[in-house]
Amino acid sequence: MEETKDKKKRMLSGIQPSGELHLGNYLGAIKNWADRVNEYECYYFMADLHTITVRQDPAELRKRSVQQLAQYIACGLDPEKNVLFLQSHVPAHAQLSWVLSCYTMFGELSRMTQFKDKSAQHKDNINAGLFTYPVLMAADILLYQPDYVPVGEDQKQHVEITRDIAQRFNSIYGDVFTIPEPLIAKAGARIYGLSTPGDKMSKSVPEGCVFLMDSPDEIARKFKRAVTDSDTENCVHFDKVNKPGVANLMNIYSTITGKSYEEIEAEFAGQGYGKFKPAVAEVVVEHLRPIREEAERLMKDKAYLDQVYRDGAERAAYVANKTLRKVYKKVGFYQL
Ligand code: TRP
Repeated sequence: MEETKDKKKRMLSGIQPSGELHLGNYLGAIKNWADRVNEYECYYFMADLHTITVRQDPAELRKRSVQQLAQYIACGLDPEKNVLFLQSHVPAHAQLSWVLSCYTMFGELSRMTQFKDKSAQHKDNINAGLFTYPVLMAADILLYQPDYVPVGEDQKQHVEITRDIAQRFNSIYGDVFTIPEPLIAKAGARIYGLSTPGDKMSKSVPEGCVFLMDSPDEIARKFKRAVTDSDTENCVHFDKVNKPGVANLMNIYSTITGKSYEEIEAEFAGQGYGKFKPAVAEVVVEHLRPIREEAERLMKDKAYLDQVYRDGAERAAYVANKTLRKVYKKVGFYQL
């Protein structure tokens, strides 16, 4: 068949609907996702099942699950070309997770660094879900037989345990699962906090974090207060070690405008940070404006967003259930 010859490789990733998207998420990752559809068949889901391993406010979680969908679509993820869905809408995730938990060892789960970190952070709520989190993630992935799983460095260990579980299962039952490769984002557009240029931009430091939904005034204010450097040089020059704040602003400016660092240095020669910071704010404001406006428009169109989730769940479930049926059969569940 012609079709199978140039069949696209499949890619899948999950995102926790745990907060507002910011410029770091956007420039570092989401911005490039829209282009991936040309090369890959892409599945993205909001991992709401994973989110409740840490206590959540139900109304907030519900709101964010749909808000985040609106924001991703506004960033250019086309729901016609990508399969976008909510994890809890596809029951096969929880179903396969149970089966895989019987093929995952207590010892290997206790060695996961995220479990160790999170149980230290949430001493009052070290629940079993926090412990079996990687099993659910393995189910998320293996159901769709993807070739690649793009994740951040912090999630690499979870893709590795997924491969181990899949290999263990395959060695008993034959080739049931595709063994996925992690795709670790390149350090390229790594954006740091405007107030803390030593640390990645993070919603936990809101004064240095530019949210996609921030108003132009808020964005301008955050850039105005951005940390530059402690010397008195006041010169726009790329020096990651001695001027990390300036380097971060230059990276942001460069990623959005496509200008090189040399071009930026030339553009602001002799002008100092007083001119540079508002110029960066300006390109960010103008770049984010259509995204914010589109997300706001979509948020008012709940019927559309619900339909995206409905269609996405249907397309996802079709693929997921095929794998689940195969697994049920292999392990010996009686079929009707
Ligand atoms: N654990 C991931 C994170 O916190 C989210 C996630 C859940 C995921 N299931 C996944 C990522 C499957 C990739 C594939 O970022």
